[in-house]
Amino acid sequence: MFSRFRRRRINPVLRDLLQETHLSVNDLIYPLFARSGSGIKTEVSSMPGVFQMSIDEIVKECSTLKTLGIYSVILFGIPDTKDSVGSDAMCEHGIIAQTIRAIKSAHPEMFVVTDLCFCEYTDHGHCGVLDPVLETVDNDITLDNLAKQALIHAKAGADMIAPSGMMDGMMGAIRRGLDEGGFVNLPIMSYSTKFASAYYGPFRDVAESSPSFGDRRSYQMNPANREEAIAESVADEREGADILMVKPALAYLDIIRDVKNHTHLPLAVYNVSGEYAMLKAAAKAGVIDYERVMMETMIAFKRAGADIIITYHAKEVAEVLQK
Ligand code: PBG
Ligand code: ZN
Repeated sequence: MFSRFRRRRINPVLRDLLQETHLSVNDLIYPLFARSGSGIKTEVSSMPGVFQMSIDEIVKECSTLKTLGIYSVILFGIPDTKDSVGSDAMCEHGIIAQTIRAIKSAHPEMFVVTDLCFCEYTDHGHCGVLDPVLETVDNDITLDNLAKQALIHAKAGADMIAPSGMMDGMMGAIRRGLDEGGFVNLPIMSYSTKFASAYYGPFRDVAESSPSFGDRRSYQMNPANREEAIAESVADEREGADILMVKPALAYLDIIRDVKNHTHLPLAVYNVSGEYAMLKAAAKAGVIDYERVMMETMIAFKRAGADIIITYHAKEVAEVLQK
């Protein structure tokens, strides 16, 4: 009888020997949301287990992360005041600059990545400075501000910058700004292929960053476009990105594979808020085996071509991996 495939699946040790794709705690980056105050740890209803935290709580959280073997975080800020340009993001006393300094002084071995964008800091909630005529983000003025924001993060001690605004020429402008400021060794992980996705809904509750009018379709990508998705990441590779990204992840596994095949840089994927919220809701409804579905989702990202996974599940995944 034919038993070409099944004879390799009978023994569990052989199954492990033949496993093609692997997941490790070293693949994970954990997102953190910083706000001012002390002793603040507020859960967001749409994302159970995800908190807005004051800086002291974030420093404590980093100790927990280390015990789980997680050494990389990506920071998002909720400023006290917002204005038309997002000044808090370009100020050395802004929420992110303070958070970086606090983490790096308490936990120097922690690898601190910063999300570089303006939507959390502008009163209109868009990802840059508005052009009053076009009623959308002015690309080139925003590029100058992104370079300023990058330098603020760099000077505060960030280990990697992750621009997420989808402005044209963003990679090149930030790289030049960092190089001129003396930060030639600071890597950039570009949100190179980022779609205008409804899966970001819960994030905007946590980060308080919903646009006050319109949407982000004049700068983020149309979910229907494959060729453009590849071209966006190829452009950022050419402009000097160190790591590329596809975001969201779960509904875009084909794009992850395409970008992996057409570029030669490490690839991150962002397992976004809506993907996380869906698993949590399904678990609460008792309709899935949460832990197994979560691990299967993580391995799917790796199999599709991801090298790095940014995920709100990071702590839970690390716990499973430790078993
Ligand atoms: C900021 C940013 C967003 C996310 C990461 N960086 C929101 C957006 O583009 O609206 C989404 C992350 C998530 O949904 O988990 N530009
Ligand atoms: Zn933004």
